[in-house]
Amino acid sequence: MQHDAVEVITAKRDRAELSDSQIDWVIDAYTRGEVADEQMSALAMAILLNGMTRREIARWTDAMIRSGKRMDFSGLSRPTADKHSTGGVGDKITLPLAPLVAACGVAVPQLSGRGLGHTGGTLDKLESIPGWRASLSNDEMLDQLESVGAVVCAAGAGLAPADKKLYALRDVTGTVPAIPLIASSIMSKKIAEGTGSLVLDVKVGTGAFMTDADAARELARTMVDLGTGAGVRTVALLTDMSTPLGFTAGNAIEVAESVEVLAGGGPADVVELTLALAREMLAGAGRDGVDPADRLADGSAMDAWKAMVRAQGGDPDAPLPTARESHVVAAPSTGVLTRLDAMAVGMAAWRLGAGRARKEDPVQAGAGVVWHARPGDDVVAGEPLLTLHTDEPERFERALESLEGGYDIAADRSAYTPEPLVIDRIA
Ligand code: URA
Repeated sequence: MQHDAVEVITAKRDRAELSDSQIDWVIDAYTRGEVADEQMSALAMAILLNGMTRREIARWTDAMIRSGKRMDFSGLSRPTADKHSTGGVGDKITLPLAPLVAACGVAVPQLSGRGLGHTGGTLDKLESIPGWRASLSNDEMLDQLESVGAVVCAAGAGLAPADKKLYALRDVTGTVPAIPLIASSIMSKKIAEGTGSLVLDVKVGTGAFMTDADAARELARTMVDLGTGAGVRTVALLTDMSTPLGFTAGNAIEVAESVEVLAGGGPADVVELTLALAREMLAGAGRDGVDPADRLADGSAMDAWKAMVRAQGGDPDAPLPTARESHVVAAPSTGVLTRLDAMAVGMAAWRLGAGRARKEDPVQAGAGVVWHARPGDDVVAGEPLLTLHTDEPERFERALESLEGGYDIAADRSAYTPEPLVIDRIA
């Protein structure tokens, strides 16, 4: 049925429920350029303010999937499982997770993005490995999934093109944080990608999209229902993002920390989350008899990592780039670190050059923040608390500003309350 943009915008502005045919039309017409950016931004703002019913969200998601091509992994000899994180600081989990799950006999087709704003992008991190390339053809991706079992690459232009256009528009019109739009954006790509099962890592806390647990739970529930409704076995873990993950936020420094996990060591929280997500992925793919901890311990996850990096032109044994300059922040007092704020650390890493302000900006491979203690650890006045890295020392000042008020040290351990990393599971 033919509609027009003003009719659809005013319907949502006046809190009406959009019909299937209005949704199909507006997504298709926007993808073709018939609905203008200013009209779509008005509609996105009306959706942000007035919401959408579950039926509208499901139809919107489906229309975005139909705007492009779907991938098909049904010919692979192993089941498929994927993971999506809503984005956090120091969130390098994909790097150890994809080869770990591959080493357990499940194929991981991970289509990732680049970072924008204070959360890092998986592709930016991997691109710090000399020679590694993010762009693969569909055939290369399928071959690698069959031979190695894991691939992390850039989503091709054919996958949910409506979302690509709409996400860029939302980014510049203040319409990103709307649950119907986030859920449909993420799930349209994951469903079009064709994975058999999916685990969502929905972040909650200062460094996440959702600072409030109830909103994060609603986002998780919406996405799980969309996935399940489309025939993808989907579960979500709600995980803490008030504190950054591990001890590093940046690109090459996060790769190095991920390699420590694959070597059987690494920070306890990164190992905990990697194993929790791996167990969910294996269960979703029907392989829950395998214990992923064994695959970290016996070196097979590391073998899969090296094979995955080599298959995409990278040298897993080459030294990683380091930044030219560093600056140490000393602990101002002796006691227990009770808080390290994910947003403050993420902003600092971004300002040091690890992230980008505009899509077309380059990132620095060696830039980022290393913290030497996590909440609950003892710190000593004058000893290093954080080290900042960048190629451009003029960036230190702004990075230091974002760390102001970003951590607390208490003289007494009773001031520290540990918080769980995995807050909830939604299936
Ligand atoms: N990631 C996406 O892919 N889309 C959103 O809307 C938010 C995060």
